[in-house]
Amino acid sequence: MSITQDSPIGILDSGMGGISIWAEVVRQMPFEEVVYWADSAHCPYGGRSREEITTLVRSGVSTLVEAGVKLIVVACNTATTAAISTLRAEWTEMLFVGLEPAVKPAARETRSGVVGVLGTAYTVGSEMFRQTTERYATGIGVRVIATAGNGLVEAVEKGWEDAPETERLLRDYIEPMLAEGVDELVLACTHFPLLIPAIRRVLGDRPVRIVDPAPAIARHTAELLRERGLLTDRTSLGESRFIGSGTAAETERLRKRAEQYRKHLTEENLKH
Ligand code: DGL
Repeated sequence: MSITQDSPIGILDSGMGGISIWAEVVRQMPFEEVVYWADSAHCPYGGRSREEITTLVRSGVSTLVEAGVKLIVVACNTATTAAISTLRAEWTEMLFVGLEPAVKPAARETRSGVVGVLGTAYTVGSEMFRQTTERYATGIGVRVIATAGNGLVEAVEKGWEDAPETERLLRDYIEPMLAEGVDELVLACTHFPLLIPAIRRVLGDRPVRIVDPAPAIARHTAELLRERGLLTDRTSLGESRFIGSGTAAETERLRKRAEQYRKHLTEENLKH
């Protein structure tokens, strides 16, 4: 299938997390069509091995390539950490945008000199993360407190964003960071922006900035498409199609959750 400027953008995640990226992509590029692939049958990825994650993500990329996408956003920190170099080597013609923990902007902005990172066990335990941290934070005298947010991806998948158990988990992960003086909290898993209202409750009135990479990722995606002459010049709203390894009911839940999150994001943007 040949790629044109009207081909869709592909977005891939283990499940619902990529919604946080999708919502920014369609907000910044409303005329683009999107195909979103969720691996709901195998979510979460965070406790799996590199080999397993790579095999699963390959299947998503193949499906998106068959759907004729012009670029793929690997909207999952875990999948990016495990598989992006393999994907780039195997699909040399495809444009990939990956998600890496936003340690660099947080280390630049911190006033306390302590940055918190909440990711999956895979991401925060990876060599890639160790290198990013050393290069952009510890190397310039900024301390990083990284925590694996075990159970949070599952909570989002179940729709438990506002459940007391979820807030308790968030408290367990974030309060020790606050005790260390963290003033920047990097969300290093794309599922976690869906928990921002609960995270705000945990932070209370403390002056902590939540770093959600979605706006920067969507901007970067737009720039890349512009550079390659691949931005659509259609002026009618693009459609998004949701597909994946889950059941039809799971995919429908994902679509509804995505619309809800987009609405919430629009309201948040109107407030500011
Ligand atoms: N959204 C994925 C990420 O950004 C979640 C990974 C998982 O499924 O554990 O890391």
